[in-house]
Amino acid sequence: MEVELYERVWMWTAAALIVVFLAAIFLTTGLRALQPPSHVETVDPTALSNYPEFANPGVTTRADGSVVVSVVAQLFSFSPDPIVVPAGRPVTFRLTSADVMHGFQVVGTNANAMVIPGYVSQFTATFDKPGEYVIACDEYCGVSHHNMVGKLIVK
Ligand code: CUA
Repeated sequence: MEVELYERVWMWTAAALIVVFLAAIFLTTGLRALQPPSHVETVDPTALSNYPEFANPGVTTRADGSVVVSVVAQLFSFSPDPIVVPAGRPVTFRLTSADVMHGFQVVGTNANAMVIPGYVSQFTATFDKPGEYVIACDEYCGVSHHNMVGKLIVK
């Protein structure tokens, strides 16, 4: 069977694009620690006060020195605010929403998660550079979405 040169060029171009896209997925996974959410844990968003960690959201240090931060997102703020964590140590964030879907993005880092009512979004990040970081809600959540910001202080 004879395949036209023009057609062969496009077939190879399409194949090369697939390779490039797959390489982009694997490289960002391996080098930049991007990952799909994998932690499925549910809560009752109408009764967060029944969950000790979300009734009093905050920063706790475990015996091995790792840090856990529980956060409740709510129109139009994060609790606690500010969040103070140590530099250079793994910090596990456990996030949930008391109302609608929000986002939790620590600007300038790869810490970023959707915050979905009814679910706990969990991820671990290490902040090597001390300083103040802006936490932005990056999912549109209502009229004051653009004002929904918090502060992360890394010491
Ligand atoms: Cu919360 Cu946008």
